Amino acid sequence: MKVDLIIANANELLTISGPKRPRIGKEMSKLGIIKDGSVAIKHRRIVGVGKADKIKKKFKTERTVDAKNKVVMPGFVDPHTHLIFAGSREDEFVMKLKGMSYMDILKKGGGILKTVRETRKASKRILFDLTKKRLDKMLKYGTTTIEIKSGYGLTMKDEIKLLEVMNELNKKHPIDIVPTFMGAHAIPPELDAENYVDLIIDMLPKIAEKNLAEFCDVFCEEGVFSVGQSRRILEEAKKVGMKLKIHADEIIRTGGAELAAEVKAISAEHLLQSSQDGIRELSRANIIAVLLPATSFCLRTNYVDARFMIKQKVPVALATDFNPGCMCLSMQFVLNLACLVMRMTPAEAIVASTINAAYSIDRGNEVGSLEVGKKADILIMNVPNHKLIPQYFGVNLVEKVIKKGKII
Ligand code: NIG
Ligand code: FE
Repeated sequence: MKVDLIIANANELLTISGPKRPRIGKEMSKLGIIKDGSVAIKHRRIVGVGKADKIKKKFKTERTVDAKNKVVMPGFVDPHTHLIFAGSREDEFVMKLKGMSYMDILKKGGGILKTVRETRKASKRILFDLTKKRLDKMLKYGTTTIEIKSGYGLTMKDEIKLLEVMNELNKKHPIDIVPTFMGAHAIPPELDAENYVDLIIDMLPKIAEKNLAEFCDVFCEEGVFSVGQSRRILEEAKKVGMKLKIHADEIIRTGGAELAAEVKAISAEHLLQSSQDGIRELSRANIIAVLLPATSFCLRTNYVDARFMIKQKVPVALATDFNPGCMCLSMQFVLNLACLVMRMTPAEAIVASTINAAYSIDRGNEVGSLEVGKKADILIMNVPNHKLIPQYFGVNLVEKVIKKGKII
């Protein structure tokens, strides 16, 4: 067979092949490594994966990229970001360093609410350009699929504006974007909580009708949306056909993990303060835990006990949580923290940031591993073995990004 491209002779080819579901427990250590491996690509998809000599015999091509002494792996999937907003919060950064907490800043009209003011003023053109620049950087650092949440509009018009920009970016940018409606990100100053929940319930069918969001997420947190309000929003979202995510137990334990199990969310995210029983609930209900160690780093709080989660057979995924208070565009840095602070192994961190991350945004059949039929979203990493990936930091190890079969 004649193919468009062969990536040849990788010292380690991380296929991450395995069962067609999120990986749990010991499965999270399995990278399906082929030593001296090659991948063949045709029409943007993977058509062959195997030992270099076999691929060479089976496929003909005019274009070969040599990956000798390199690691070849699936593109990173970043399944939790707040990438689309205007303005910045450098003053709060300094306030935080002086000891002010995230919630104190929010209660004073800062944090999310400051970004809401700036984002409401911004045109679609400005938001498109700002977000595109962030996506360009992420792509260079190896992210090939991303989830983006709305939530800095908090009116019907502004939430729709953000979701429309995401959908436009998805058409025009090489990175695949999965849009999430997160109107329930904060309570806008002009409304009280109950009235705002009513407004969100009104937004849901309009957003579903325009097909603007695949997921709905809620910031279930003391002083933001209670468990009862979160449940109401998520149940309504389910009725209009959205899949569910929850910002659960980030700052104070409210039982967000248990709520995720109750409403059958695809994922529960943050989970910094979840109880061990809450984590067991996630395991029982097969909910993916999306861990965000860069947020802990920026808020200078505790980190999730990832070892306990993996032991409890919770499928663990990793994400950046990029937002104006946590400006991490690099999944490689998230891997550093996952290993050095949360004591995940390099293999676990790679599974969590590829196949499990893909499943957490319902893209596990399309990306996240190098298997025949999947999208050719592939990284060539400038290291000879995968264990070195989370050991380097402050540098970009990505040598080449191949997105849908094209070298970027
Ligand atoms: O995931 N917790 C809510 N949302 C973000 C922060 C957003 C912001 O501070 O602008 C988070 O941490
Ligand atoms: Fe978040």
